[in-house]
Amino acid sequence: MNILLLGSGGRESALAWKISQSPLCDSLFIAPGNGGTGAYGTNVSLSPLDFPAIQAFVKENGIGLLVVGNEDPLVAGITDYFRDAMPELLVVGPSQQGARLEGSKDFAKEFMTEYGIPTARYRSFTLDTIEEGFRFLEELRPPYVLKADGLAAGKGVLIIDDLDEAKRELKEMLSGMFGASSATVVIEEFLKGIECSVFVLTDSHGGYRILPVAKDYKRIGEGDTGLNTGGMGAVSPVPFADEAFMEKVEERIIRPTVEGLEKRGIDYRGFIFLGLINVDGEPMVIEYNVRMGDPETEVVMPRIKSDMVELMRKAAEGNLGDIPLEIDPRTAVTVMMVSGGYPGSYQKGIEITGLEHVSDTIPFHAGTRLDADGRLLTSGGRVIALTSYGENIPEALSRSYDAASHVNFSDSYFRRDIGQDLMK
Ligand code: AMP
Ligand code: GLY
Repeated sequence: MNILLLGSGGRESALAWKISQSPLCDSLFIAPGNGGTGAYGTNVSLSPLDFPAIQAFVKENGIGLLVVGNEDPLVAGITDYFRDAMPELLVVGPSQQGARLEGSKDFAKEFMTEYGIPTARYRSFTLDTIEEGFRFLEELRPPYVLKADGLAAGKGVLIIDDLDEAKRELKEMLSGMFGASSATVVIEEFLKGIECSVFVLTDSHGGYRILPVAKDYKRIGEGDTGLNTGGMGAVSPVPFADEAFMEKVEERIIRPTVEGLEKRGIDYRGFIFLGLINVDGEPMVIEYNVRMGDPETEVVMPRIKSDMVELMRKAAEGNLGDIPLEIDPRTAVTVMMVSGGYPGSYQKGIEITGLEHVSDTIPFHAGTRLDADGRLLTSGGRVIALTSYGENIPEALSRSYDAASHVNFSDSYFRRDIGQDLMK
């Protein structure tokens, strides 16, 4: 079948890499793709938010499967659009209603509360109820967690130690700090523990598969310091997410989530990303996302031995049935090379060299593009994810760091402590 993948990041590179290996894939197109995705298929200059243009492309190129990489088109209703306009097209990604699990934190919290899914105690406030918000903050112990209800490009969560500052920030958020996204703010209890990312592929009819668990490294600085980023590296598997922990995750979180979606009649055929925190051995949900993680996908896809196209197709058909999901027992790690200055301002258009010296590592391109002369240039903050396998975390890391020493662009930066916390 012909497949169209929407997105342009490292996540889409890893998905494209995996999809292109499937015997079920005739032609793969990536829209818009990046400077590396051309190795796996054909880049197409289309915006993932331009549904009519995508529809025309799907028709012209006989696309049978549409895989939506990032959340924006899902929250904007791409799945519903195509269910109406082209019911025969298989789409991997939830309906707009399902995408609210990521698109509205208030919706997600209310959903978890209804189905008894463990998460931090919370309340939601608007400008009309700000005084109640202040009182709720006074009831909580610091640090205080304030979340913009809507999508805010990963920046909508504030964690604040001081009560007065938390009140000031609450007011700022409700007054439009993140535009309409923060017209409602969720305030919740702070949870202390170590985080991991669990991915589930579900078919909307009770069928699901749990993909390999990963941990990502969100802060820019070593030792988890400095500003939040999209993610600076990832490791899979995660030692603390052992069988006992994952049994709890499945029993208390995955099953009630899948069943809750079904009970509400929400069409959800795609990936559920559970951002979890391990609080003294008990898993709790920090957030839902409705897509794969980035850079987690860059370690999750390499650990899947089964044919992802078959799995995604069956999920999109609403019938995962009993097709197996086989997982590679090896460790995979990825180290993200970023532009100097990221996640603040940074330069683009810097030439990248040395990739020809990378052999034991898969370079998943993220913010890269090819210019008219075929030179590879940076085009974003997160530039390239260097993924390696190993028998254990140190072995895989040594390969990725060796690769990083060969890849050059001026002012590049990467964290040298990926996975260190898992080796203690
Ligand atoms: P989110 O966008 O919901 O993933 O939040 C961003 C980050 O803030 C998470 O990855 C956590 O590190 C942190 N965070 C969010 N909610 C909480 C919470 N209730 N307790 C502790 N940390 C949190
Ligand atoms: N790595 C976290 C995310 O994709 O949201």
